Amino acid sequence: MAGEPKKLTIFDVQATVAAGEKVFQVTATDFPTALLVDRAGIDFILIGDSLGMTALGYPSTVPVTMDEMIHHAKAISRAAKRSILVGDLPLGAYHASTADAVTSAMRMVKEGGADVVKMEGGEDVVPMIEAVVRAGIPVMGHMGLTPQLISKLGGWRVQGKSAAAGAQLVRDADALERAGCFAVVLEAIPDRVATLITERLQIPTIGIGAGPGCDGQNLVLHDLVGLFDRFLPRFAKRYVNVGETIDGALREFQQEVRDGVFPSAEHSFAMDDVEYEALLAEIGDDA
Ligand code: KIV
Repeated sequence: MAGEPKKLTIFDVQATVAAGEKVFQVTATDFPTALLVDRAGIDFILIGDSLGMTALGYPSTVPVTMDEMIHHAKAISRAAKRSILVGDLPLGAYHASTADAVTSAMRMVKEGGADVVKMEGGEDVVPMIEAVVRAGIPVMGHMGLTPQLISKLGGWRVQGKSAAAGAQLVRDADALERAGCFAVVLEAIPDRVATLITERLQIPTIGIGAGPGCDGQNLVLHDLVGLFDRFLPRFAKRYVNVGETIDGALREFQQEVRDGVFPSAEHSFAMDDVEYEALLAEIGDDA
C-alpha cells in the first residue's frame, strides 16, 4: 500500500547484523506503545511476558497466561506496520511437551498476529524449539536470566559468573543455534561471556544486561520511558520520565478545574441564544 512502510523480515535483520550494524528490540504492551515503537524504526517489537508486570500488575512474569498474551498481541499487531512482531510464549505454554509448544506458537501467530515467537531456556528446551521451527514458525531464543524460571534461579540474578556457569551458557547458545533459532536474547550475563557467544554464533544476539558486544540491544519500553516505577533493573536505562510528566498533567488538570480554568470556551459547545430562549420557554423557565 502506498505510504505504508515496508515490513521487515528476519532476513533483513540478519543482513543488518552481517553488515556490522546494530539491531533493536523494544517490548511494547498495547496499541499506543506499539505504534510509538514501530514508528521509531525499532526492528523487533517484543510482545514480552514482562507485560504481566508492566501492564497487568503481577509481581513477576510467572502468572502470565497464553490467553493474556494473545489479548495483548492482538492489540500490538494492529499497530505494527514495519517492525517484526515477536510473541513471547509464557511459562507453561511449551514446557510439558513439543505438542504444547507447537500449539502455543501457532496460537501466537494465528490469533495474536505475531510473526515469530520467543522461548526462554537453553539446552533443556531444545526439543520444543526444534518442534516449533519444524512446524514453520521462526523462534528467537532467550537465555541467561530467564525470568519465567525465577524460583529455580533464586531471584533476578546475573547468570554465568563462574567459569562453569559461563561454559554452560556457551553450550546453551550453541544448542539454541543448532536447534534452529534465528536470533537469541542474552539476558543479564557478564559482558565478556556475551561477546564470546556473539563471536561464536552465526545468528544475531540481542542483549539486555549483556554488555555492548551483542549484535543488538533490547529494552522494555516502560523502563526506557519511565512508565513503570516498581523497580528499574540495573541494566535498564531510563531515557525520559514520562511517568513524572503524566503525574504533573493529572495534578494540573485537577487544579485547573478547581480554579475554573478548564473547561474554557475552547473546550465547550455553545448554543445559539434564540434556541436557548426557546428551550427555557419550553420547559417553563422564564427566569
Ligand atoms: O518479556 C520481556 O520483555 C522480555 C525481555 C526482557 C527480553 O523477555
